Amino acid sequence: MSKVTVVGAGKYGSTTVQRIAESDIVDEVVMTDIVEGLPQGLALDMNQSRPVVGYRTLVTGTNDYADTAGSDVVVITAGLPRKPGMSRMDLLEVNAKIVREVTEQLMAQSPDAIFIVVTNPLDQMTTLTAEVAGLPRNRVMGQAGVLDSARFAHFISEKADIDILEVEAITLGSHGATMVPVPSQCRVGGKPLTEVFDEATIDELVERTRNGGAEIVGLLKTGSAYYAPSAAAASMVHAVVNDTGAVIPTCAWMTGEYGINDVYLGVPAKLGATGVTEIVELPLTAAEQAGLEEAAEAVKAKVEDLRAIGG
Ligand code: APR
Repeated sequence: MSKVTVVGAGKYGSTTVQRIAESDIVDEVVMTDIVEGLPQGLALDMNQSRPVVGYRTLVTGTNDYADTAGSDVVVITAGLPRKPGMSRMDLLEVNAKIVREVTEQLMAQSPDAIFIVVTNPLDQMTTLTAEVAGLPRNRVMGQAGVLDSARFAHFISEKADIDILEVEAITLGSHGATMVPVPSQCRVGGKPLTEVFDEATIDELVERTRNGGAEIVGLLKTGSAYYAPSAAAASMVHAVVNDTGAVIPTCAWMTGEYGINDVYLGVPAKLGATGVTEIVELPLTAAEQAGLEEAAEAVKAKVEDLRAIGG
């Protein structure tokens, strides 16, 4: 018996619910939002797809947190998405207010849940959720690295003209400007990325990955990406619900790994039923290690911005 709650029935939330439901790994997915009728309507629609797609998971749409009680995993997507020209930082104030309130409501119903945060700006919202929830830090994590790594893999496969499933790519660090791609750990058809492309080409791919979200925002005009983001969030839910121990790039609390402490940072983490069970230390090059340390400092500075707005 397992139950997952997704808060926010917007693009990101509803596609995450759909992906979790269609993978048929939990009994119930609760989708909640402040907009009346929205989660209920989407849930009804999804439930009616079950005999066609062939899965049993029931989706409950609600505006009442009582329905989320006893969730094993909660995913927070509530908040405003970025508009064209808007940085993740611009979102800070408005989304901090939403995430604080949502976390309080969730904790009142599901104090034993594992929290996965996706609302931007991601690093601050994950920090805020952990503080408001008061849970051990391994039980609160953020999604960014799966998405950034997937975007990097897509751009590599396109450039190399190779099957996407032959590409292994990984990014660490923060979601945004201080994202740290890790070319030394990337493989293309089994070969190291650094043997397939020259430095300038890798830099070009990294730059496009770093701006991956903004590129989509610019094209869509309204709203931000959600297909790859929801796939990323659902993969983390899957690892926790099925206690798989999969190593997944995760925004996780650092306790000395990579020589970094007391900050939420994107690192490879083993995920299971208790949340982050281990942070995996990859052998990084000096430049990659320096990039990770720089990202940690950048996130710490951003957390100060959160303090400045009373978060
Ligand atoms: N409680 C519950 N839901 C809320 C709350 C709240 N307090 N405030 C807003 N919401 C809901 C909105 O009603 C809306 O349905 O959150 C949903 C957000 O949906 P979208 O606007 O479609 O945004 P989406 O693309 O889903 O992105 C959500 O993920 O990637 C990040 O930057 C993005 O922070 C944003 C979040």
